[in-house]
Amino acid sequence: MELKIRPRRLRYGENLRKMVRETRVDPSSLIYPIFVREGSGIVEEIPAMPGQYRYSVDTMGRKLESLLKAGVGSVMFFGIPDKKDEKGSGAYDENGIVQQALRRAKAEFPDLYLITDVCMCEYTSHGHCGVLCGHEVDNDETLKLLAQTALSHVEAGADMVAPSDMMDGRVAAIRETLDAHGHINTPIMSYAVKYASAFYGPFREAAGSAPSFGDRKSYQMDYHNSREGVKEALLDVEEGADIIMVKPAMSYLDMVARIKNEVHVPVASYSVSGEYAMIKAGAQLGYIDEEKIICETAVSAFRAGCDIYLTYFAEEIAGYMKEGKIG
Ligand code: PBG
Repeated sequence: MELKIRPRRLRYGENLRKMVRETRVDPSSLIYPIFVREGSGIVEEIPAMPGQYRYSVDTMGRKLESLLKAGVGSVMFFGIPDKKDEKGSGAYDENGIVQQALRRAKAEFPDLYLITDVCMCEYTSHGHCGVLCGHEVDNDETLKLLAQTALSHVEAGADMVAPSDMMDGRVAAIRETLDAHGHINTPIMSYAVKYASAFYGPFREAAGSAPSFGDRKSYQMDYHNSREGVKEALLDVEEGADIIMVKPAMSYLDMVARIKNEVHVPVASYSVSGEYAMIKAGAQLGYIDEEKIICETAVSAFRAGCDIYLTYFAEEIAGYMKEGKIG
């Protein structure tokens, strides 16, 4: 058979395959989400996320240290407060759980890059991502509290803030407040393209943040929509977002690819709790090969175009990169 073009030619041998690889990955692109809670001496496994823990501020250092050793230099903090109230005051309390964690992490691990999730849902008694007016989340009232939360995080040591609430105008509100207090160089990573997703189930269990009534569909996006995601991303860039995130990752890689073409800022994708839980469950049942699935899932996000990947498997993935299993 006379075939001039044989795509298989470039697939013989590991050296050649690596040479022609289109997607290169590096641990510096990884962010590890970590849960911190009140109390001391606590390392508590999250039931629907085997291998993931809620740490108290005095125990989280173990995980931070092993992340750094593995080459993961960035973490995103999620706080689990002891007390919740209508206005989510724990979110912007200067002695709130995330603020405590930030001060400690900054002092003990000055090389670690500290990012915070800015949202109200872990702190409100009703579990919604903002303050309520009747049964609805009051967008504009919530903006003030989000800006206050972001500022208190930065003042406690956050290097970057990441609003995940999906209120309209939050990036502008946060930027204005940070700038007014002199934090002009603190970047905002916006969860701009965030869908109302059942993939957040295990996280809500971990953080006790499921809404006590209704759902999040009046602020998070309908997963039937794609163009609307572009609108959200462009708006946030205009408001001053430095990085745009797509969330979840796995079922939304079309959006990662699309957003990458629409904006000229780095794009992040967040492989969320439900994605983690599915891989763990499938592997525990012996249905899939955990390591190979983790590698393939991570590379697919980068191949789709993300520059930054948030994942509970960050430490494992950094290890696979070092071992040359992906690269
Ligand atoms: C807070 C927030 C959520 C997640 C990140 N930030 C939960 C939600 O929106 O209900 C989900 C992360 C995950 O599932 O791993 N709003």
